Amino acid sequence: MLLAHFTDVHFGYEDRNAIDAATRYVEDNKPDAVIVTGDISQDGRADELDAAGEWMRALAAPVIVTPGNHDVPYYEPLGRLLYPWTRFHRAAHGLRTEAWHTPEWSIVPVNTARAWQLRANWAQGAISRGQTAEAGAELQKAAPGALRIVITHHPLDWPNDAPIKGQTIGGVRGLEALTNAGAELFLSGHLHFAAARLYGTRALCISSGTLSQRLRHEPPAFTAIRRPEPDVVEAEVLHVVQGRAQSASRRAFRLAGRGGADAPAQIRAGAPG
Ligand SMILES: [Fe+2]
Repeated sequence: MLLAHFTDVHFGYEDRNAIDAATRYVEDNKPDAVIVTGDISQDGRADELDAAGEWMRALAAPVIVTPGNHDVPYYEPLGRLLYPWTRFHRAAHGLRTEAWHTPEWSIVPVNTARAWQLRANWAQGAISRGQTAEAGAELQKAAPGALRIVITHHPLDWPNDAPIKGQTIGGVRGLEALTNAGAELFLSGHLHFAAARLYGTRALCISSGTLSQRLRHEPPAFTAIRRPEPDVVEAEVLHVVQGRAQSASRRAFRLAGRGGADAPAQIRAGAPG
């Protein structure tokens, strides 16, 4: 199984070289699926969202996409209020936006972006109890051997070493509840920063870098995810340098929920193999 995780492409302020490298990666490696965790546009304009949709539909692999905080009409208060997601869903036609179950994986998208929030920073996300319960119910439909994946734009629990600080409202509660509901892999964006860390003993949280020009301390990046053994998930971070995707790190994590090791462990790390 090979999954490619792209995020924060920010059409309107995209990095053309990074997008071309990601596109080539899909052509050359034929991942089973491409997962895009939001901020597909810069300002939620129709032309930006449509360009993003066109790019995703042209990829040589099936795509599932969930929106980010930049995918609402960013500078249009009326649009935020009246039709926050209309343009996103129009642009995403023909792509998967709902839970996707196969014998190998269940991918459950949760929209953590909000058009409005009762706090100054609308860019940060939220997951409601209702969304958590709904996603938990979707996870119950997973086939016995399927890897159970939850995808969100915002990390449910922000890594301490991330270049921007913040909090997803309900995120930590959601992370725990969804892990208890069987989620094994959480994929998110928003930080423009690659990170992979275990949550407890049973789940792995991966945050991927950006394919835009909005860089934060690292080159444009994306993640390749493999499952070399039923209870092992491997995260390979690829940096796009001078137009080429280069393996920057490759780490494998053993999860405890599959009846393998009692305690999880990062079993391999360091330079790409
Ligand atoms: Fe972003």
